[in-house]
Amino acid sequence: MATTLAIFGASGDLTSRKLVPALYQLFLKGRLEEPIRVVGFSRSPFTHDQWRDKLAETTAQFAGDSFDAERWTEFAKQLFYHPGDIDKLDDFAALSEFLDKLDDGEKNQRLYYLATAPRFYLPAIQQLGQSGLADEHGGPRRVVIEKPFGTDLVSSQKLNQSIHEVFAEHQVYRIDHYLGKETVQNLLVLRFGNTIFEPIWNRNYIDHVQITVAEKVDVGSRAGYYDTAGVLRDMFQNHLLQLLMVTTMESPVRYEADAIRNEKVKVLDAIRPLQPEQVQQDTFRGQYRGYTAAEGVAATSRTATFAAVKLWVDNWRWQGVPFYLRSGKAMSCRTTQIVIQFHAPPHKLFEDSPRDLGEANRLVIQVQPAEGIQLHFQTKVPDAGMRMRQTDLDFNYRQEFRGTMPEAYERLLLDALEGDASLFARADEVEAAWRVCDPILETWQRSDRPTLFMYDPSNWGPEECRQWMLEQGRQWFDTCPVLG
Ligand code: BG6
Repeated sequence: MATTLAIFGASGDLTSRKLVPALYQLFLKGRLEEPIRVVGFSRSPFTHDQWRDKLAETTAQFAGDSFDAERWTEFAKQLFYHPGDIDKLDDFAALSEFLDKLDDGEKNQRLYYLATAPRFYLPAIQQLGQSGLADEHGGPRRVVIEKPFGTDLVSSQKLNQSIHEVFAEHQVYRIDHYLGKETVQNLLVLRFGNTIFEPIWNRNYIDHVQITVAEKVDVGSRAGYYDTAGVLRDMFQNHLLQLLMVTTMESPVRYEADAIRNEKVKVLDAIRPLQPEQVQQDTFRGQYRGYTAAEGVAATSRTATFAAVKLWVDNWRWQGVPFYLRSGKAMSCRTTQIVIQFHAPPHKLFEDSPRDLGEANRLVIQVQPAEGIQLHFQTKVPDAGMRMRQTDLDFNYRQEFRGTMPEAYERLLLDALEGDASLFARADEVEAAWRVCDPILETWQRSDRPTLFMYDPSNWGPEECRQWMLEQGRQWFDTCPVLG
């Protein structure tokens, strides 16, 4: 069945930087088996050709060496542009006519991608409903919604309710691009495609888990949005909690959307709700020096650009294992890693046996940019009595597999086109994630504790955060990946 992908917010950054380059890569790789037409919708008055030319330039820029002008021309024949205003029902009626004309009476599936600013999600959904575009009589109709999905629990519930007045849940694809990353999917394979990890993946062997998403970049030109969001809404409610869910969930009975999402939601439901006094003790916030000088940020802004949060997952497997989640902008380097820190051996047989956690076994999942996995363990130093040293088994994607890592959007777009929602968030999942974050946001808003610490850019966040971890007998693994 032919497919039409209608992109709302077609003149925006997401369309030119991510969506169209991803579609172009899928086309080059021959993954778009069915004919697919892409229709851009936004207020800018482009003709089809003007939009194609604009996208040719940006795609060449983002696709790098893989851009081939001839193949692009072939691909671009399927790109169309239809100007319109999300607030005008008449423009949706005209769009509907245009899409019908493209279909030429054929049954067809349609994917509506909301690549707009979040304030347009609701009007776009309502207009899609009123203009009959959500109706599935002519074939499947799906809608893809970008983050942020609401700004707290109440707003996300309202958004879900309004969406469900137009689309049934099976038609809704809430995107979190972290789930499109190869290494995040590989975590499922590591855990459930092997036998040796699962028996030790629990409180009996694991002391704690650290999930770090550090960014070298600062807020740049997005300060206007970022200042209203802050790091918790921007990174924790979605990406970090997704990483936590994939790390801690039970094995689903089938690799199938609802089976997977049921297990993920159980993790969120098991997270111990943070009372205000725990928020004050178990969360940490920071702001990099110079943040308030960014355009669009008030000089008095107290928005956190760094946070660390200690969470407990109250179930049989994870009882007593703290999960430390941390993310920040203007950090030492760009790295996303999950560190599984195992206990030190219970009996010190060798004089040199690991005494502290830093020397105990550690599994490091490098999500990006040096995608891979390292297992750290003790080894006997040759010809030196029973001296030991920590060494590692190192699996590196770039050495093991040829070719470049695909962009997350390639996989996610393909899945949405094929109707596979396994890597998309369900309504109850986004709401449960807000339930975890809301108490932190509320306490941060109302109280001066925890203190908002300042940190210098190009650091691992505020020095006080390092101290906070040391006081718990643990330390952050602050390592920048080596890109080979
Ligand atoms: C986005 C956030 O969702 O993720 C950005 O809004 C952040 O602030 C980005 O920079 C990080 O994504 P990635 O894939 O570069 O880790």
